[in-house]
Amino acid sequence: MLADKPSTASALPQVIEHKPRAFHSFPGAQYILPSDDEERSRLELQHRVICRALGNRLFIVPLSIKKGDKILDCGTGSGIWLLDIAKAVPPEVGLQGIDIESRLFPSSKPENVNFSVETALRLPDGWQDAFTFVHQRLLIAGLQAKEWPQVLREIHRVLAPGGWVQLLEAKEEQGADNKPVTMRQRALNKALFSARGLLLDCATHMPDLLWEAGFESVEVRELHLPVGAWAGDEGIETRESFLNVFRGMKTPVLKAGGLGFISSEEEFDSMMDGLAREWDETEGSTINLCVFCAQKPPSEN
Ligand SMILES: C[S@@+](CC[C@H](N)C(=O)[O-])C[C@H]1O[C@@H](n2cnc3c(N)ncnc32)[C@H](O)[C@@H]1O
Repeated sequence: MLADKPSTASALPQVIEHKPRAFHSFPGAQYILPSDDEERSRLELQHRVICRALGNRLFIVPLSIKKGDKILDCGTGSGIWLLDIAKAVPPEVGLQGIDIESRLFPSSKPENVNFSVETALRLPDGWQDAFTFVHQRLLIAGLQAKEWPQVLREIHRVLAPGGWVQLLEAKEEQGADNKPVTMRQRALNKALFSARGLLLDCATHMPDLLWEAGFESVEVRELHLPVGAWAGDEGIETRESFLNVFRGMKTPVLKAGGLGFISSEEEFDSMMDGLAREWDETEGSTINLCVFCAQKPPSEN
């Protein structure tokens, strides 16, 4: 159902009525996914799916973590990656998670783990050269094209000389001519990202962005995760994890009046159901991710 029209003429889109989920309220941030219990569960499933795709590893940078090292997780969400790292490293390793929203931070944590509300765009001045390793995963739905260079410069600044960064991002999908709902949903996604100035093809730009920020030894690994019932239980887990990313975009899409693709909440939900069905029925469907590893030069002349 469409909400009542505003009484005065306005260029603002007509919001489509729905029950909104909870979102961050960080000034200026364009991040489009919710931060509620449902999102926490999704992030936990997504973490398992991604670790499995990495061969049950939390990171692939060539680093052995030792006492006294410090690790930063940028855009930590529920902190699930950091909590798993805490189980794998000595308690003398300092673990810091930052996010623009604290609602998903875990209620209990080991003593060497700390969480704070910061934006990746401006990390604390005192963190200069402090970290051996910075991890950042899936900020694609939060960073604008003009913000990526700044975020990478900040990561470079807070890394110690010789320190490593690992980023993981979704790869913009191409093709799928035989999947009409997928094509339509992709076009909607593109319109939403563009309306917010977000960089949907950040994975394509990342190697250059990393070099430009001063990193070296830049390496990229692509991951192709089978998605849908045709790929068994793992395909179903991948489907649930990533379908719920798109379901989480319902409020921003409906608040933006459907962006020319959607005219009711039911239509949005039925698009999501159709997407799941296409993944289930199309053997070979994949979710494509890229992992980027890069090093801050050991000494800067
Ligand atoms: C898709 S979630 C991923 C969470 C976590 N990295 C993971 O993989 O489980 C993206 C997270 O980035 C955070 N975020 C978005 N924009 C941010 C910014 N400018 N600075 C820091 N965090 C940000 C969001 O609040 C959200 O928790």
